[in-house]
Amino acid sequence: TRTPVNVTVTGAAGQIGYALLFRIASGHLLGADVPVNLRLLEIPQGLKAAEGTAMELDDCAFPLLRGIEITDDPNVAFDGANVALLVGARPRTKGMERGDLLSANGGIFKPQGKAINDNAADDIKVLVVGNPANTNALIAQAAAPDVPAERFTAMTRLDHNRAISQLAKKTGAAVSDIKRLTIWGNHSATQYPDIFHAEVAGKNAAELVNDEAWLADTFIPTVAKRGAAIIEARGASSAASAANAAIDHVYTWVNGTAEGDWTSMGIPSDGSYGVPEGLISSFPVTVKNGTYEIVQGLEINDFSRARIDASVQELKEERDAVRELGLI
Ligand code: NAI
Repeated sequence: TRTPVNVTVTGAAGQIGYALLFRIASGHLLGADVPVNLRLLEIPQGLKAAEGTAMELDDCAFPLLRGIEITDDPNVAFDGANVALLVGARPRTKGMERGDLLSANGGIFKPQGKAINDNAADDIKVLVVGNPANTNALIAQAAAPDVPAERFTAMTRLDHNRAISQLAKKTGAAVSDIKRLTIWGNHSATQYPDIFHAEVAGKNAAELVNDEAWLADTFIPTVAKRGAAIIEARGASSAASAANAAIDHVYTWVNGTAEGDWTSMGIPSDGSYGVPEGLISSFPVTVKNGTYEIVQGLEINDFSRARIDASVQELKEERDAVRELGLI
């Protein structure tokens, strides 16, 4: 029998946590034959609700769930962690400036990065979901100098999945026929969903759509502003789809991308495509044996270049701001 994988989830009592934990425990994060231990990290006010969720997890009698630990101490939560899903974050509240938001999140992600550095297993893989995800990942990474930098990733898989779904609707294709879509840049309104290299049932997506106005005025803003549209419709933010994307991100990172396809992940740049080295930016990646690689050699047209540059510029500004605040 396999040794259980230790999976730490922060913000476990939140909305995304509630949609996420049951799927981790049922085998969707790592595979249907991989037992897991869950470690739930919450702030003291969240502990009671996390205990309630743990009661429900018990009540599911998941065969793969070997243990649940609940704590408000990051050193305990990340002890021996193989996978860490950093979901809990400080949301932007009314009137909050970017600097305030970044420093509030620095107060969360810096100590969590240090706790990962000091306690996690050697093979730790980190996914940051909590916003601003790319820059929170940068803060955690900077606080974990002993962990290889590439183990810190930020989630743009929800954007990737949203873009696939919109493109499928537009072309009348099945979601499963869409391949090689890319989200570039920041998980924010500046993100750039790129269909110029995407395929719809083997045909080039941009040529098939052949409508730059739709791309610029409908597709890109629909994907980028989908989170706000969901809040408007549901009266609550997207939680189940965000949890689903977190599951997809880690599953792909562990189990690989399909032959001929790729996915999008926020990862430390190696300088590819003119993205400054070290920025955590979304790229097209293939994954094999638990290691991702940026897809190389894609031709970037002017339409794409301008949009990638704008999103990367925002990431640079966020990095400069957290540098100034002494968070990295
Ligand atoms: P929520 O507010 O329902 O839950 C957040 C939870 O985190 C709360 O239970 C809170 O007590 C906990 N928390 C706060 N500080 C913590 C700390 N230092 N340690 C441990 N737990 C802590 O929020 P929700 O809806 O679950 O969203 C979580 C985050 O995910 C938000 O930042 C949201 O913006 C982000 N998000 C990111 C997406 C992406 O695509 N990257 C998509 C959707 C949401």
